[in-house]
Amino acid sequence: MNPKYRKTVIAGNWKMNLLPSQLRDYADGLKALLGKEHWCEAVLCVPALMAIPLGRALRGCRVSVGVQDVSDRDMGAYTGEVAAAQLRDAGVKYVIVGHSERRAYHGETDELIGRKLRKALEEGMTPILCVGETLPQRSAGTEKDVVRAQVKTALLGLDAAAMKKVVLAYEPVWAIGTGHTASPAQAQDMCREIRAVLRERFDARTARAVSVLYGGSMNPRNAQELLSQPDVDGGLIGGASLDPGKFYQILEAAKP
Ligand code: PGA
Repeated sequence: MNPKYRKTVIAGNWKMNLLPSQLRDYADGLKALLGKEHWCEAVLCVPALMAIPLGRALRGCRVSVGVQDVSDRDMGAYTGEVAAAQLRDAGVKYVIVGHSERRAYHGETDELIGRKLRKALEEGMTPILCVGETLPQRSAGTEKDVVRAQVKTALLGLDAAAMKKVVLAYEPVWAIGTGHTASPAQAQDMCREIRAVLRERFDARTARAVSVLYGGSMNPRNAQELLSQPDVDGGLIGGASLDPGKFYQILEAAKP
């Protein structure tokens, strides 16, 4: 983390878990742990239908509501889609784009992900752009080429001012939901590489200002060491964010 230059962001990703009827208990549990102190951006990215009730349940505490996807289209005849304007109007502040599960199960390409990212930005929301290599790609030694290409393509056409409103998340696919967390050195190495891409593509000042998170089996036991790496500016947390106690422990691990 480097809170002098950029925000620390701890974002939960509930994926397709928990029921609307469980929101109140979750929010009450988290609120009971959160005091007045505020040391990082706390975000919960939930299924879109839970965004409004979660916002209500979290009223009075500094946790932002996020979602896990957005349409690349403007409002209109696109059955099943949710537009950025609708999310913004529902109080959503953060939108995950390019999660590996959407790439794998819904065939999302870097180009489509880039369009989604720009829709979120147009509506004043913060996109969390996920990138990361698979195990075969790492075994072949191509992980940096893969991640570089993902970052560059999704950010095509963006200027430096817009880039400063984007959050990146390095999520090695082999670490997601597997319990095989990347080592702090591996996380640091790739987050630094991503920042190098931003420096080449934009400038040093922009690269220094963008938060780059790590995601993949982050939990209360390993969070502090991962977050102590200089280029790891926070976490994107799946499984461990489903329990308010564990999510709070990870927030605590991000105290400077
Ligand atoms: P995990 O998921 O923490 O359960 O590994 C992380 C993610 O997919 O964002």
